Amino acid sequence: MTQILQNLNLYLIGMMGSGKSTVGKILAHQLGYRFFDTDILIEKVTQSSITEIFAQEGEAYFRQMEHQVLAEVAACTQSVIATGGGMVLKSENWGYLRHGVIVWLSAPVELLVERLAADDTRPLLAQRDLSAKLTQLLAERLHLYQEADLVIPITAEQTPEAIAAQILEQIPSILKPALSNDLQAEWN
Ligand code: S3P
Repeated sequence: MTQILQNLNLYLIGMMGSGKSTVGKILAHQLGYRFFDTDILIEKVTQSSITEIFAQEGEAYFRQMEHQVLAEVAACTQSVIATGGGMVLKSENWGYLRHGVIVWLSAPVELLVERLAADDTRPLLAQRDLSAKLTQLLAERLHLYQEADLVIPITAEQTPEAIAAQILEQIPSILKPALSNDLQAEWN
Protein backbone atom coordinates (compact mmCIF):
# COMPACT_ATOMS: atom_id res chain seq x y z
CA MET A 1 0.00 0.00 0.00
CA THR A 2 2.81 2.45 0.83
CA GLN A 3 4.19 1.81 -2.65
CA ILE A 4 0.82 2.52 -4.20
CA LEU A 5 0.60 5.71 -2.18
CA GLN A 6 4.14 6.67 -3.30
CA ASN A 7 4.76 8.55 -0.04
CA LEU A 8 1.74 10.80 -0.62
CA ASN A 9 0.14 12.29 2.45
CA LEU A 10 -3.41 11.41 3.42
CA TYR A 11 -5.55 14.35 4.48
CA LEU A 12 -8.72 13.61 6.43
CA ILE A 13 -11.37 16.30 6.11
CA GLY A 14 -14.91 16.54 7.47
CA MET A 15 -17.04 17.98 10.20
CA MET A 16 -16.15 18.14 13.88
CA GLY A 17 -16.98 14.79 15.46
CA SER A 18 -16.63 12.80 12.25
CA GLY A 19 -13.68 10.84 13.69
CA LYS A 20 -10.73 12.28 11.73
CA SER A 21 -8.23 12.05 14.60
CA THR A 22 -9.24 8.57 15.77
CA VAL A 23 -9.32 7.10 12.28
CA GLY A 24 -6.19 9.04 11.27
CA LYS A 25 -4.11 7.51 14.06
CA ILE A 26 -5.16 4.01 13.04
CA LEU A 27 -4.37 4.70 9.38
CA ALA A 28 -0.96 6.14 10.24
CA HIS A 29 -0.14 3.10 12.34
CA GLN A 30 -1.17 0.69 9.60
CA LEU A 31 0.73 2.56 6.90
CA GLY A 32 3.84 3.20 8.99
CA TYR A 33 3.15 6.90 8.44
CA ARG A 34 3.50 9.83 10.85
CA PHE A 35 0.30 11.26 12.29
CA PHE A 36 -0.48 14.96 12.66
CA ASP A 37 -3.57 16.71 13.96
CA THR A 38 -3.64 20.34 12.85
CA ASP A 39 -5.62 21.46 15.94
CA ILE A 40 -3.04 19.93 18.27
CA LEU A 41 -0.20 21.54 16.32
CA ILE A 42 -1.90 24.94 16.58
CA GLU A 43 -2.30 24.48 20.34
CA LYS A 44 1.38 23.58 20.63
CA VAL A 45 2.58 26.52 18.54
CA THR A 46 0.38 29.07 20.30
CA GLN A 47 0.55 27.48 23.76
CA SER A 48 -3.20 28.08 23.97
CA SER A 49 -6.30 25.95 23.64
CA ILE A 50 -8.50 26.30 20.55
CA THR A 51 -11.18 27.83 22.80
CA GLU A 52 -8.74 30.45 24.10
CA ILE A 53 -7.53 31.29 20.59
CA PHE A 54 -11.09 31.86 19.35
CA ALA A 55 -11.99 33.93 22.45
CA GLN A 56 -8.83 36.04 22.57
CA GLU A 57 -7.73 36.37 18.93
CA GLY A 58 -10.87 35.50 16.95
CA GLU A 59 -11.65 33.03 14.20
CA ALA A 60 -9.72 34.86 11.45
CA TYR A 61 -6.50 34.54 13.45
CA PHE A 62 -7.22 30.84 14.08
CA ARG A 63 -7.77 30.27 10.32
CA GLN A 64 -4.43 31.94 9.60
CA MET A 65 -2.68 29.68 12.13
CA GLU A 66 -4.45 26.71 10.59
CA HIS A 67 -3.11 27.70 7.17
CA GLN A 68 0.45 28.07 8.48
CA VAL A 69 0.37 24.72 10.23
CA LEU A 70 -0.94 23.05 7.07
CA ALA A 71 1.92 24.59 5.07
CA GLU A 72 4.38 23.08 7.58
CA VAL A 73 2.94 19.57 7.58
CA ALA A 74 2.49 19.56 3.81
CA ALA A 75 6.28 19.77 3.54
CA CYS A 76 6.44 16.29 5.12
CA THR A 77 5.81 13.06 3.24
CA GLN A 78 4.39 9.77 4.52
CA SER A 79 1.97 11.45 6.89
CA VAL A 80 -1.68 11.14 7.78
CA ILE A 81 -3.09 14.54 8.68
CA ALA A 82 -6.35 15.04 10.56
CA THR A 83 -7.44 18.56 9.65
CA GLY A 84 -9.80 20.84 11.57
CA GLY A 85 -13.35 20.84 10.19
CA GLY A 86 -12.91 24.34 8.78
CA MET A 87 -9.64 23.67 6.93
CA VAL A 88 -11.57 23.46 3.67
CA LEU A 89 -12.80 27.06 3.99
CA LYS A 90 -9.62 28.83 2.90
CA SER A 91 -9.04 28.43 -0.82
CA GLU A 92 -5.25 28.75 -0.29
CA ASN A 93 -5.35 25.52 1.76
CA TRP A 94 -6.46 23.48 -1.24
CA GLY A 95 -3.10 23.86 -2.97
CA TYR A 96 -1.56 21.93 -0.07
CA LEU A 97 -4.38 19.42 0.33
CA ARG A 98 -4.27 18.61 -3.37
CA HIS A 99 -0.67 17.42 -3.08
CA GLY A 100 -1.96 14.43 -1.15
CA VAL A 101 -5.00 12.18 -1.12
CA ILE A 102 -8.03 13.90 0.42
CA VAL A 103 -10.50 11.70 2.28
CA TRP A 104 -13.83 13.06 3.51
CA LEU A 105 -15.38 11.34 6.52
CA SER A 106 -19.01 12.12 5.79
CA ALA A 107 -21.10 11.71 8.93
CA PRO A 108 -24.80 12.67 9.24
CA VAL A 109 -25.68 15.57 11.54
CA GLU A 110 -27.60 13.26 13.93
CA LEU A 111 -24.44 11.27 14.60
CA LEU A 112 -22.36 14.43 15.06
CA VAL A 113 -24.93 15.76 17.55
CA GLU A 114 -24.75 12.53 19.52
CA ARG A 115 -20.97 12.66 19.65
CA LEU A 116 -20.63 16.37 20.37
CA ALA A 117 -23.51 16.92 22.82
CA ALA A 118 -21.20 16.91 25.86
CA ASP A 119 -18.24 18.59 24.14
CA ASP A 120 -17.03 21.99 25.30
CA THR A 121 -13.81 22.23 23.27
CA ARG A 122 -15.34 23.50 20.01
CA PRO A 123 -16.03 27.24 20.23
CA LEU A 124 -18.15 27.27 17.06
CA LEU A 125 -20.64 24.97 18.80
CA ALA A 126 -21.03 27.02 21.96
CA GLN A 127 -24.72 27.70 21.47
CA ARG A 128 -27.97 26.14 22.51
CA ASP A 129 -29.17 24.48 19.34
CA LEU A 130 -26.30 22.15 18.46
CA SER A 131 -28.22 20.39 15.72
CA ALA A 132 -29.14 23.66 13.97
CA LYS A 133 -25.55 24.93 14.15
CA LEU A 134 -24.08 21.70 12.76
CA THR A 135 -26.72 21.63 10.02
CA GLN A 136 -25.83 25.20 9.08
CA LEU A 137 -22.05 24.54 9.08
CA LEU A 138 -22.46 21.38 7.01
CA ALA A 139 -24.67 23.18 4.49
CA GLU A 140 -22.04 25.93 4.12
CA ARG A 141 -19.20 23.45 3.68
CA LEU A 142 -20.79 20.58 1.80
CA HIS A 143 -19.62 21.72 -1.64
CA LEU A 144 -16.06 21.96 -0.30
CA TYR A 145 -16.04 18.54 1.40
CA GLN A 146 -17.38 17.11 -1.85
CA GLU A 147 -14.10 18.08 -3.53
CA ALA A 148 -12.39 15.17 -1.72
CA ASP A 149 -10.79 12.35 -3.71
CA LEU A 150 -12.56 9.76 -1.59
CA VAL A 151 -15.85 9.99 0.28
CA ILE A 152 -16.39 7.63 3.21
CA PRO A 153 -19.93 7.60 4.60
CA ILE A 154 -19.77 7.23 8.38
CA THR A 155 -22.43 5.37 10.38
CA ALA A 156 -22.80 4.90 14.13
CA GLU A 157 -22.27 1.15 13.83
CA GLN A 158 -18.82 1.24 12.20
CA THR A 159 -15.75 0.99 14.39
CA PRO A 160 -12.85 3.36 13.65
CA GLU A 161 -10.84 0.26 12.63
CA ALA A 162 -13.49 -0.70 10.08
CA ILE A 163 -13.51 2.85 8.69
CA ALA A 164 -9.70 2.83 8.38
CA ALA A 165 -9.87 -0.55 6.63
CA GLN A 166 -12.47 0.80 4.20
CA ILE A 167 -10.23 3.77 3.36
CA LEU A 168 -7.20 1.55 2.75
CA GLU A 169 -9.28 -0.74 0.59
CA GLN A 170 -10.54 2.12 -1.59
CA ILE A 171 -7.31 4.08 -2.06
CA PRO A 172 -5.96 1.92 -4.92
CA SER A 173 -9.09 2.58 -6.96
CA ILE A 174 -8.60 6.35 -6.87
CA LEU A 175 -4.84 6.25 -7.41
CA LYS A 176 -4.81 3.61 -10.11
CA PRO A 177 -5.61 5.96 -13.03
CA ALA A 178 -2.71 8.19 -12.01
CA LEU A 179 -0.14 5.41 -11.66
CA SER A 180 2.78 5.26 -14.02
CA ASN A 181 2.79 2.47 -16.63
CA ASP A 182 5.49 0.56 -14.71
CA LEU A 183 3.52 0.60 -11.50
CA GLN A 184 0.31 -0.22 -13.33
CA ALA A 185 1.98 -3.31 -14.80
CA GLU A 186 3.08 -4.34 -11.34
CA TRP A 187 -0.38 -3.68 -9.98
CA ASN A 188 -2.19 -5.74 -12.64
C1 S3P B 1 -13.54 23.66 13.62
C2 S3P B 1 -13.21 22.35 13.90
C3 S3P B 1 -12.32 21.98 15.00
C4 S3P B 1 -11.34 23.13 15.31
C5 S3P B 1 -12.09 24.40 15.55
C6 S3P B 1 -12.95 24.81 14.36
C7 S3P B 1 -14.47 23.94 12.50
O1 S3P B 1 -11.57 20.82 14.66
O2 S3P B 1 -10.43 23.29 14.25
O3 S3P B 1 -12.89 24.24 16.70
O4 S3P B 1 -14.52 25.09 12.04
O5 S3P B 1 -15.16 23.00 12.05
P1 S3P B 1 -12.20 19.32 14.58
O6 S3P B 1 -12.88 19.19 13.26
O7 S3P B 1 -11.00 18.45 14.69
O8 S3P B 1 -13.11 19.20 15.74
